[in-house]
Formats: sequence, structure tokens, C-alpha cells
Amino acid sequence: VDNGLGLVPQMGWNSWNHFHCDINETVIMESALAMVTSGLKDAGYRYVNIDDCWAVGRDDNGVIQADPIAFPNGIKYIADYVHSLGLLIGIYTDAGILTCQKRPGSYGYEQIDAQTYASWGIDYLKMDWCNTYLENPQERYTIMSKALNATGRPIFFSLCNWGISEPWMWAMDIGNSWRTTGDIADTWTSMTVILDLQVPITSFSGVGGWNDPDMLEVGNGGMTTTEYISHFSLWSLLSAPLIAGNDIRSIDNTTFSILTAMEVIAVNQDTLGRQGSLIKSINGKDQQIWAKPLADGSKAVILLNRNDNESATIQLQWGDIWESPSTSLIVRDLWAQQDIDTFTGSYTATNIPPHGCVMLRVY
Ligand code: GLA
Repeated sequence: VDNGLGLVPQMGWNSWNHFHCDINETVIMESALAMVTSGLKDAGYRYVNIDDCWAVGRDDNGVIQADPIAFPNGIKYIADYVHSLGLLIGIYTDAGILTCQKRPGSYGYEQIDAQTYASWGIDYLKMDWCNTYLENPQERYTIMSKALNATGRPIFFSLCNWGISEPWMWAMDIGNSWRTTGDIADTWTSMTVILDLQVPITSFSGVGGWNDPDMLEVGNGGMTTTEYISHFSLWSLLSAPLIAGNDIRSIDNTTFSILTAMEVIAVNQDTLGRQGSLIKSINGKDQQIWAKPLADGSKAVILLNRNDNESATIQLQWGDIWESPSTSLIVRDLWAQQDIDTFTGSYTATNIPPHGCVMLRVY
């Protein structure tokens, strides 16, 4: 949508994947501070997003009310603090009557809610799709999109209708990102199920509006380090929102080094804004080659080993990613942050562990 936002995929943190409904002012403010002190802010993370369970009702004028126990000082108080740290703040609502956790939704209150968010200084709105019955998503999200626009405040608009009625076909004019699937869980299976669902839709995103395969699970403990590296590599290549979903107040070194891998993030934030796509599957889909064109004419490539038990050798041929390739190309390892060498015609990676990948830039 033409609100000047989403020129590259959004980066930030959201409370849902780790805290679910167990949120309060302290958790949100400590997470905001941690975004700065940990170094995540320096790596590009900006949005501090409060998910479901912050709202309890409406006052006599229909103005939405924060839970007075969990958020005793209200949302504007948190927004001011987040802004004082040089960060941006996001909030959550639902297009239906109730949110997924049965808190008040925005149905019929779109204008007043948009005005309320703007008056609090909100920079980002995620709008869910629970309790909407037979409503049409395109219509309902258009109402909120216009209401946000009418506030005069640029508010990043994140649609969350889980791929229902193919938002990639119409949401570019309404929002800055749209969920393409149901919720991610912190498992290799969930992550790869979502990955497979992206295959047919990778051409339907770009500058201003992004396919959203859901938030990151990196650091939540359900996958191995190798798997989290693949998850983060793939989400970067898919031009997905990079919204951390772990407890960043107690982030360990391994998780931090994954979430801040500079050259991997650079692929995600590349200004050309072309989403990466599946180039080739080998042995069923045991091994895959994914690639994303970058603004400088080079390509980011992932050689992914989806086999559960065996290490893999994967060969990338220049013809896989270029129609008429030059013979000699430099291959750079984006996790090691170093050039491997110059290769002629192809590059072969060996010993890629089960559920692991190598991520390259070829130029
Ligand atoms: C839905 C969304 C999740 C999260 C929860 C909150 O399941 O897809 O991302 O916002 O609702 O209830």
C-alpha cells in the first residue's frame, strides 16, 4: 500500500511466539530495552510489537481500553518509552468482533480504533482474522487500511488472515505485508510445511508489500542450531518479515549470532525487493536450490539439505540461476562472511548436514 512504508521487509520483535497471552508492561518495556542493549537494534530490528491479549474492552465512547492490570499506564506510556529508545511500536487487533484470544476486535470500530492508535503514537498494526464468520477479507482489511490512512500517521499495516482467499492476489493495495499460511510452530516440520506453501506465490511480493510466512522461532528452543540457521536463511531469502519471536531479554550468543548475521540480513533487506524462489528440487525434495536476485546483479543462493539423516552434496550450476552465465564467478559464503573462491560453470557444496544449508552470494 502506498503509505511510504515496507520499502524493505519489516524487522522487529513480537510478543506472541514466546509469551502468548502472558504479556504485560514490564515484559514489553524490558524487551524494548533489550533490543537496544543486546545489539539487535544495531542489526536493523526496529518494531516492538505487542500481540494479542493487551485489550479488555471499550469505554462509553467506544474507545478501546488496555488491560488495567497488565498495562496499568496504558499503551501510550509504552509507546513513548519505545520511541525514546529510537524504536517503533506495533499493536494487534482483529478484523472480527473478537480476537483469537477473545479480546475485543475492531469490527465496526475501525475508524475509532485507527484514531486511537494514531493518538497513542502507534507505528504498526497487525490485524488478525478470528471471529469474522462470513466476512470478505479484502473488504474488511480495506476498511481498516483507509481508516489508518485517514489518521495522517504512517502506520505499517500487517494483514493476518493466514492465506485465506489468497491475499497475495489483492493485498498489495491494502497493506504492507500479509500472512500466507496458518501459524508457525517451533519445529522443523512446521517450518518446512510453511516453506513448501510459499513455492507457488513467490512472485507476488515486492517493494511496499510482502508475503509473510509468519514470525521467527529462532531461539525458542524447539529446533537445533542447524535448523534455526536454515529457518533464518530461508526467511531472509523469501523477503519475509524478520520478526524475532524469542525472549530477547535473555538472548544467548548462538541465537544472537543467528539473528544478526549481517550478510544474511542484507539479502532480506536488498532494495530490489524480489522474493527468492525455488529453483530446483533433487531426490524428491530432499535437497533444494533456492535463489534470489539482488539489486547489484548478483544472486543469493541457498543449498538446502532437507534429508533427516544423511549429509548432502549439492551442485549449483550457473545455468540454474543465469540464462547466459559468465564462466567464472565468485562464490561468497554469507554465514562465514568470506569469499570461497572463483569457480567455472558450477559450485559444489559438500557435507551439508541434515536440515542444514549453505547460503551464498554468487557474482
Ligand atoms: C493468530 C495469529 C497469531 C497470533 C494469535 C494471537 O493465531 O495468526 O500470529 O497473533 O492469533 O491470538
